Amino acid sequence: MSLRSARAIAHPNIAFIKYWGNRDAALRLPSNGSISMNLEGLATRTRVTFDPSSESDELLLNGKPANKSALSRASDFLDIVRNLASIQLRASVVSENDFPTGAGIASSASAFSALALASTAALGMKMSEAELSRLARRGSGSACRSIPEGFTEWAAGLSDLDSFACSFAAPSYWQLADCIAVVQTGEKQAGSTEGHKIANTSPVQRARVEDAPRRLEICREAILKKDFEKLADIIELDSNLLHAVMMTSDPRLYYWQGVTLEVMRSVQSWRQSGIPCAFTIDAGPNVHVICLADESERISNLLQDIPGVNTVLISRVGGAARLLLD
Ligand code: DP6
Repeated sequence: MSLRSARAIAHPNIAFIKYWGNRDAALRLPSNGSISMNLEGLATRTRVTFDPSSESDELLLNGKPANKSALSRASDFLDIVRNLASIQLRASVVSENDFPTGAGIASSASAFSALALASTAALGMKMSEAELSRLARRGSGSACRSIPEGFTEWAAGLSDLDSFACSFAAPSYWQLADCIAVVQTGEKQAGSTEGHKIANTSPVQRARVEDAPRRLEICREAILKKDFEKLADIIELDSNLLHAVMMTSDPRLYYWQGVTLEVMRSVQSWRQSGIPCAFTIDAGPNVHVICLADESERISNLLQDIPGVNTVLISRVGGAARLLLD
């Protein structure tokens, strides 16, 4: 039997309404729906080769053999694909991010969406976008939102079958940008997977989840109507709610550094002075500043002047995960 190989590219995404906590951790069925925008300026490229002569899966990440936990997470995911295809072949996976590693920019969304697409294409499986999104979700919840293009919504769903993301606006629909203020980071943070497990220990989580349908609707409408003020208000509220849960769970999770708050305050004052921009923060100290694409240079310059901001990465709205031809 010959080698079966395919290569795919996928972008990470920034959530406007965040996913935090699972109803079913094994299937990654989330406690609430979420909305995000793909990030065109950042990408993961992954080649998967199923090799009949291989005895175990291999993973090369940015040119280096991956550590044990990354390899076993990829291997567990490939087991799901092998199960679907009824095969046992082991795979070699070569994955590269074009954004700086160790900068605290989560790569699991682009990693698992690229892996889902490349591995199923390598095996010649015919998958709809919804099926691919469902599959990517099993590797990392947020990865399901990196399969479709542009602005996407992940409906929480009730089961594996109806929990996937769909695009509700193309990348060109609204020219937004994400200016990511990469800040100095100290000790290693708890990963998202750990955080999801303890979300329910926070008394704030219940209120956050119950109110999620309202926030989702406001966010979706704000994007469809291109109403920046409304979008700014809802994404900042949602981000603060997420961090309120993190800071009140057991154990407590503090992702912010001093400079994180400094950037949040600056964004607030820039907006008050008439520059349309808004912050949102994931499970780390970096601040994503969402703005109109035309304003991204100005915002980036302002961010770079804040002491403690290391670099600023600018990204427009990204497309869907797609196959790369050799
Ligand atoms: C704060 O998708 O990284 O970025 O499913 O365990 O891989 P796993 O978690 P992950 O969680 C993302 C958390 C978040 C919010 C979001 O992207 O919605």
